[in-house]
Amino acid sequence: MATVSLTEPPNGTGDVRATRWRERGPRSWPALAGIAASRLRGAVGLARDPEGFLERQRARLGGNFWLWLPGVDPTLLTGIPEEVRQIYQQPVHAFDAPRGQPLEPVFGQHSIVLNSGETHRRSRGLVLPAFRRDRMELFGDLMQEITLEALRRLEPGTICRTHHLAQVITLHIIIRAIFGVTEPAAATAMESAVIRFLQAYTPILMLMPMFRHSIPSLGQWTRFLKAREELDRLLDIQIEAKRAKAVPEIDILSQLIHARDEEGRQLDNSELRDELRTMLIAGHDTTASTMAWALYFIHHRAEISQSLSDEIAPLGAIPTPQQLNQLTYLDAVCQEALRLHPPIQLSVRQVKEAMSLGGWTIQPGENVAVSLRLLHTAPEVWQDGVEFRPERFLGRTYAPWEYAPFGGGGRRCVGAAFGAFELRVVLGTLLAAARFESCGAPPPLARLRGIIVVPHNGVPLRFLGTTVA
Ligand code: HEM
Repeated sequence: MATVSLTEPPNGTGDVRATRWRERGPRSWPALAGIAASRLRGAVGLARDPEGFLERQRARLGGNFWLWLPGVDPTLLTGIPEEVRQIYQQPVHAFDAPRGQPLEPVFGQHSIVLNSGETHRRSRGLVLPAFRRDRMELFGDLMQEITLEALRRLEPGTICRTHHLAQVITLHIIIRAIFGVTEPAAATAMESAVIRFLQAYTPILMLMPMFRHSIPSLGQWTRFLKAREELDRLLDIQIEAKRAKAVPEIDILSQLIHARDEEGRQLDNSELRDELRTMLIAGHDTTASTMAWALYFIHHRAEISQSLSDEIAPLGAIPTPQQLNQLTYLDAVCQEALRLHPPIQLSVRQVKEAMSLGGWTIQPGENVAVSLRLLHTAPEVWQDGVEFRPERFLGRTYAPWEYAPFGGGGRRCVGAAFGAFELRVVLGTLLAAARFESCGAPPPLARLRGIIVVPHNGVPLRFLGTTVA
């Protein structure tokens, strides 16, 4: 069987050959079978060891290379800061959203993630004001209260999977701060519906679009549609309740309902539902995964935990969210966790007009992608890039094409200020109010779950107790 590389066109890496290969495609069945097998192997490699896989490709091929994955248009991937600058500084209309996104049915057709051009510009105009940096402090007390509630449910002396703990906390924050559900019974019903919805979207449905049909013997797609219908029913109830209020409340949904575009149009219910489902996916496990990585390093490196304790302890039993938000070492730990293990690792764009980058020509319909992990370990910027060293962020900032955990350009994360604030408040509260210690588990590996890179073992730590009643 022909051996075909996943990351470079067969028979050479030259631009002309690559372009011909992309235009004509392979000519024989054995070559086709070889390519299919190679792409599948690559997809599995990327899912099992996303960071190691890309680093090995960089060592072999340099800082930029082609990725050929099943169901995805050819993608030129780069982690070279100068090339990342060129991508993020392109005008917004140079790119579309990439096609065939694996989470399309979860986001919904109106989602900001799937839209391009004018529709995407309108969505961002409506959504961004709700996430303005100066609004974030409105959610501080709520974030802290939810964190303390979660701690009270833990049993001292037991092993706690801290990634799961963080997922519970960030999910409750989404339900209350983003969806605006305050009444306890409604929040519990929403939580169950969200969990059923997330579980119903199986890896098979995500990776194999041909299974997204209602085949009675399989049932997975039907189950997913039912779970989405139920979640949408609850979201509709919530939307109508918020619409009925004359003055918008502080939650993100209320702000979205009252937002108007330049022509005075508002988002309708189906647009609102799609944006809420998108925020659920984009804003829940991203933050939880980063918290878990940070907790791992804090509890396995005595000097880091000491520096945090020196900073937090003088502020009293439970520092306020505003105090936590101003701590420089805590912030450096959060930034370093986002640098070393960015939870969304690829920032992908579909090219609309032929574009040159790093000696390659990318044709319309093909993709360019920034690998955030490769960027964050680029030797040009980061010394000993694979080491966890919060000090890199003390008294130093980096250009948006050197450090970009929230992506960049016209598709930069809309929830960046929310996520960064949440990280500081929740981690700071956990460190102030609870005691954990290492339980001797080996260092976690990064694994791909859906579109998020998470620590595979859930970062188990022994929970010693809490200082809050
Ligand atoms: C630590 C937390 C988070 C990280 C690291 C993160 C990271 C990212 C990244 C890398 C992108 C892609 C940007 C690009 O392609 O250039 C993105 C997009 C997005 N994120 Fe976040 N995110 C976080 C939290 C959140 C939160 C809390 C929300 C909302 C509640 C959110 C909502 C979104 C949305 C809606 C997009 C799509 C933007 C667009 O396509 O225009 N994210 N995020």
